[in-house]
Amino acid sequence: MDYSRIISTPAEPEASSMIETFRAIGYSIETAVADIIDNSISARAKNIWVDYKWDGSGSIISVSDDGLGMNNEELIQAMRPGSRHPLEQRNEDDLGRFGLGLKTASFSQCRKFTVISRKAGYSEVYWTWDLDYVNESRVWNLLKYKPFDETYCDQLHDVETGTTVVWADIDRLTQGISAENEESKMVFLKVMDKVRNHLSMVFHRYISSGITIWFRGRKIPAWDPFMIGSDGLQARPKTELENKLVRIKGFVLPHRSKLTPAQYNYAKGPEQSWTAHQGFYIYRNRRLLVAGDWLGMFKKEPHYDLCRIQVDLSNSLDNEWQIDIKKSLARPPARLKQIIKNVASDVRTVAVEVYRHKGKVVKRQFSQTAFSPVWIEKTRHGKRFYKINRDHPILKSLLQNFGASRIKLEKAFEFIEETVPVPLISLHENENEIQHSQPFENKNHDPFIEIMKQMYITCLSEGLTSDQAKSRIANIEPFNFYLEYLDQLDGND
Ligand SMILES: Nc1ncnc2c1ncn2[C@@H]1O[C@H](COP(=O)(O)OP(=O)(O)OP(=O)(O)O)[C@@H](O)[C@H]1O
Ligand SMILES: [Mg+2]
Repeated sequence: MDYSRIISTPAEPEASSMIETFRAIGYSIETAVADIIDNSISARAKNIWVDYKWDGSGSIISVSDDGLGMNNEELIQAMRPGSRHPLEQRNEDDLGRFGLGLKTASFSQCRKFTVISRKAGYSEVYWTWDLDYVNESRVWNLLKYKPFDETYCDQLHDVETGTTVVWADIDRLTQGISAENEESKMVFLKVMDKVRNHLSMVFHRYISSGITIWFRGRKIPAWDPFMIGSDGLQARPKTELENKLVRIKGFVLPHRSKLTPAQYNYAKGPEQSWTAHQGFYIYRNRRLLVAGDWLGMFKKEPHYDLCRIQVDLSNSLDNEWQIDIKKSLARPPARLKQIIKNVASDVRTVAVEVYRHKGKVVKRQFSQTAFSPVWIEKTRHGKRFYKINRDHPILKSLLQNFGASRIKLEKAFEFIEETVPVPLISLHENENEIQHSQPFENKNHDPFIEIMKQMYITCLSEGLTSDQAKSRIANIEPFNFYLEYLDQLDGND
């Protein structure tokens, strides 16, 4: 198309509203700091220093590195929103994509940020983006000033080359707060702790291969979701797709009985939960984008707690996998979904076997104890019907507690028994399209485990040994579906 013959008029983005829009991309502070560190790693840093100073609304957060640094021209280019084209081919080990991260991550948290940089053969340079100035002047101009106490940042004094990013006026976290406000200080410190844990997870493979991230002068340890090297860990065979640009490897973590309490807690990770951390771990150039997510293929359920699947992607697949600016999302292209789901199903099957193995051993051990179902099949005048088992331990104690009103409860039971929708259930079972869920599937199991625990305590108070108590519980419906929880009854969780 020949555009030269068509009338045109400028409609440049309005600087101040555009920058406010950047602020709404939805970074959390930990994803924002990680985005800054991505740049340090891409600039070949060996050391990265994350520091902060609490001073109420004057607090500062900084990230420094000993990477290649930038000269004045490069820094101005780096500060430009959209400094590089998203479709440009990048170095294999570049963690960037959009030419935006430095700006969007910083603006998501603060109103002023400064980048100071030193490149070999050049003198140190710095520039500041100041949101208040952009709002006022309505132009996209950088300022040559440092909106913070200069004595604060001295990391670059000790390195030949490198870059420091300083966030000042961190309004999302500290606006209008005085330095003496102890409660806000605690919140700030807690948030910084979260940042630290997040970095230890997101960059764990870089940390393990020699990059040091210092957090207020202390090395951040790597958090390895797969607990490589631990006893009882099972690695499933590797699957390679798309010319090896996608590599998938499933891990089944060791059963709890094989782990020390410290290892068991370690595996709970930053989310402090095994269940939260099951699923896919998607890495782009060894940088973790997605940490434990089933990508909409499955739900998180406790019996898959041991299942964690590593997916490695090359950065040449960014577009296809819909990598987002925050580097916290990745979605497989439609044509790979089924293959990936199949690989995951294999790992999940093994994981659930290991998870339940202990329970099965207990079941075999205690199979002599009589089983207490909730429902019993009976015949009346030659016809089948289903009756609620009044001897089921939970129902029995319920009936006893009802005392004089027991008769009312009995009536309610009778209503339920007389109206069990057997024909409907049989019909749906035969159609077999949507599977019937097992008892308490996809529900929060905490209350369920609590009932098991109470029952266990009651059994012990009746004089049963721990094994006898577990045996009784293992034979009560629906606890028999979740024998894996028997391990937790001793109260050492
Ligand atoms: N710490 C750093 N050391 C050296 N160069 C840097 C550093 N931080 C940023 N840069 C330069 O600034 C550019 C812009 O960074 P920015 O994070 O905005 O975009 P990106 O990393 O290219 O892509 P993405 O938006 O995906 O992060 C980088 O491409 C890099 O050239
Ligand atoms: Mg970047």
